[in-house]
Amino acid sequence: MQLLYYLLLLSTSIIHVAAGPTPAASQCRCLYGDPCWPSQNSFSALSDQLSQPVLHPVPPESACYPPSSPSGNCSAVLSNFDNGDWRADQPGAMQLPNFQTYILPNGTIEACYMNVSLGVPCEQGSVPPIGVDARTIEDVKNAVCWPRGVHVMDAPLKNMTYDQEFVPDGAPSSSERVSNAVTLGSGVPWHEAYDFVQERGRFILGGISVGGTVGAAGGWIMGAGHSAFAPTFGLGVDNVLQFTIVLASGQHITINAYQNTDLFWALRGGGGGTYGVVTSVTYRTHPIFSLSMAVLAANFSSTDIAQSVITEFIKSQPAWSNKGWGGYSSISTSAFQLQHVAPNVSTTDMNATFSPFADYVSNATQGASQVAYQNFSSFTEWYAATYSQGPPQVGYPILGANRLLSRAVAAENPAQVAEKLLSLNGGVLGILSVAGGAVSEVDPSSMGVLPAWRTAVAELYNTVAWPEGSPNSVIQEQVQALERNTEILNEITPDSASYMNEGSLYEKDFKKSFFGDHYTNLKDIKSKYDPTSLFVVPLGVGSDEWDSDLRCPV
Ligand SMILES: *[C@@H]1O[C@H](CO)[C@@H](O)[C@H](O)[C@H]1NC(C)=O
Ligand SMILES: *[C@@H]1O[C@H](CO)[C@@H](O)[C@H](O)[C@H]1NC(C)=O
Ligand SMILES: *[C@@H]1O[C@H](CO)[C@@H](O)[C@H](O)[C@H]1NC(C)=O
Ligand SMILES: *[C@@H]1O[C@H](CO)[C@@H](O)[C@H](O)[C@H]1NC(C)=O
Ligand SMILES: *[C@@H]1O[C@H](CO)[C@@H](O)[C@H](O)[C@H]1NC(C)=O
Ligand SMILES: *[C@@H]1O[C@H](CO)[C@@H](O)[C@H](O)[C@H]1NC(C)=O
Ligand SMILES: *[C@@H]1O[C@H](CO)[C@@H](O)[C@H](O)[C@H]1NC(C)=O
Ligand SMILES: *[C@@H]1O[C@H](CO)[C@@H](O)[C@H](O)[C@H]1NC(C)=O
Ligand SMILES: *[C@@H]1O[C@H](CO)[C@@H](O)[C@H](O)[C@H]1NC(C)=O
Repeated sequence: MQLLYYLLLLSTSIIHVAAGPTPAASQCRCLYGDPCWPSQNSFSALSDQLSQPVLHPVPPESACYPPSSPSGNCSAVLSNFDNGDWRADQPGAMQLPNFQTYILPNGTIEACYMNVSLGVPCEQGSVPPIGVDARTIEDVKNAVCWPRGVHVMDAPLKNMTYDQEFVPDGAPSSSERVSNAVTLGSGVPWHEAYDFVQERGRFILGGISVGGTVGAAGGWIMGAGHSAFAPTFGLGVDNVLQFTIVLASGQHITINAYQNTDLFWALRGGGGGTYGVVTSVTYRTHPIFSLSMAVLAANFSSTDIAQSVITEFIKSQPAWSNKGWGGYSSISTSAFQLQHVAPNVSTTDMNATFSPFADYVSNATQGASQVAYQNFSSFTEWYAATYSQGPPQVGYPILGANRLLSRAVAAENPAQVAEKLLSLNGGVLGILSVAGGAVSEVDPSSMGVLPAWRTAVAELYNTVAWPEGSPNSVIQEQVQALERNTEILNEITPDSASYMNEGSLYEKDFKKSFFGDHYTNLKDIKSKYDPTSLFVVPLGVGSDEWDSDLRCPV
């Protein structure tokens, strides 16, 4: 889901093309509609340098508005709007449609809603008016260099290569080779990477989402990359061997532990869309394994029962992650659901880990609970059974915010944590058990990712939603509800640490929350590789030097 966030970020930053002289007495970027916006002729000149014609993205929903363009297909929009793969293929679509809209300072919303009955005319919103359909590295270079960059759609960079013996570029010949590495182009979604690696008898740690449509070499990895398997294998950033990237200068360079090591440090967690256009990521892979899953559901008939069960659940987190278990749970004041997985666990060990908790819940809820244990021969078998279908995670307006729960607080104050979680207003809170274990074993200073990941045990993920077409007043009420809940979570997460990929665009102190004490170093590296601030994303490294529209320096 976060992937889409970064697509949005790219679109709102890179479309600002500074062609010709900058407006007098200002270093503001030139926006679509401004007199300084390049002429059609100069876009034709760009087209001549590219393998594909320049794109003029429109919101895909525009196909439902008369007069619909000949290429638009409204029935395709209506049947595919919640399909992440389909959305990824539409130049004008974000995964979450609220990021296609633009809210003017006076609260007017420019959007193109799928529901034509709302009676709102279709507008461009935040969809970039110009884009490049990058099929080759040369296309990316030309887009970045012309003359100050345009929105790059790099989904077609779908190369996957497998190296039984991988030697990072520039590594001394004496250095150890890495067996069974895979290199993924920036347009590869996780489900394709999983199948590719499984065919070679290997496992790769990646994002877990319905349909597996999160990009394998995009925002997910540059923002840390979490997974239910992170307690066994570490975060995504802990599994990277090499990146290739097109810099603002147009240079295409290779980054790893032997060359451009400062940028290698920054790209592992310092945020997407900030340092250049990443064109590929090389990951280590792991031997395949059989997998066990514990699923538990319970209903709460009173607050006391909820408090008792959630306290026990929070208290269990450190020990479960130490044993390599991770997963996704949700809690509300009336119900609880847990799904945890781990590699290579015998039925006996799974029972030993979860039965004490299941027994506790059964007793506390007076039998209003169920537990099931299952095993799968491989990760891909589990993925197909569990995530090939499910409630759609994209296609609707959603806004999230989160906090990383430290292992120390979970172990020492589980009752207080449970009380705060159960006091949040509105709906369901996700507890993502995607840290601890192997994640905690990595030196926090070894890479740019938020240091709090190394002491965390889970992510507390809160979302709000609203019906398509809601006025800004309704959206702002939801934003405020999210902020109030974040304040409550701050009482149990004193460092306010947050996973940027599922973070809020309204984060109060984004430097502290998303980057912690790595911010200054990340910013120095960004300034070195992108001295003209070509790549700026909201709440990303260096964005503090720009106004809220990322248009003018402050
Ligand atoms: C429009 O989309 C629908 C649903 O995906 C598909 O069945 C139909 O063939 C498409 N029509 C055209 C003209 O492409
Ligand atoms: C909001 O601002 C836009 C752009 O300046 C303007 O077109 C629109 O009429 C304004 N709406 C209201 C309700 O003031
Ligand atoms: C579309 O909007 C109309 C008018 O507000 C509303 O009555 C209808 O329920 C909406 N349809 C959907 C599918 O949301
Ligand atoms: C894709 O892989 C082929 C062969 O490995 C290589 O020649 C080509 O440059 C790659 N393309 C991209 C865009 O990485
Ligand atoms: C799981 O077991 C297989 C086969 O014994 C082994 O190759 C693999 O390393 C194990 N993986 C983990 C994570 O324990
Ligand atoms: C998998 O489950 C089956 C039946 O539920 C059980 O007989 C078998 O021992 C389990 N295998 C492992 C490796 O846990
Ligand atoms: C599971 O563990 C519990 C103890 O927590 C034990 O009573 C029970 O017999 C075990 N069941 C199996 C099938 O091993
Ligand atoms: C079972 O739950 C009751 C409260 O409903 C509690 O008093 C008792 O200690 C619990 N028993 C166990 C074994 O946890
Ligand atoms: C919880 O309550 C729902 C709705 O009443 C019911 O369908 C479900 O089976 C219950 N779950 C458990 C584990 O008791």
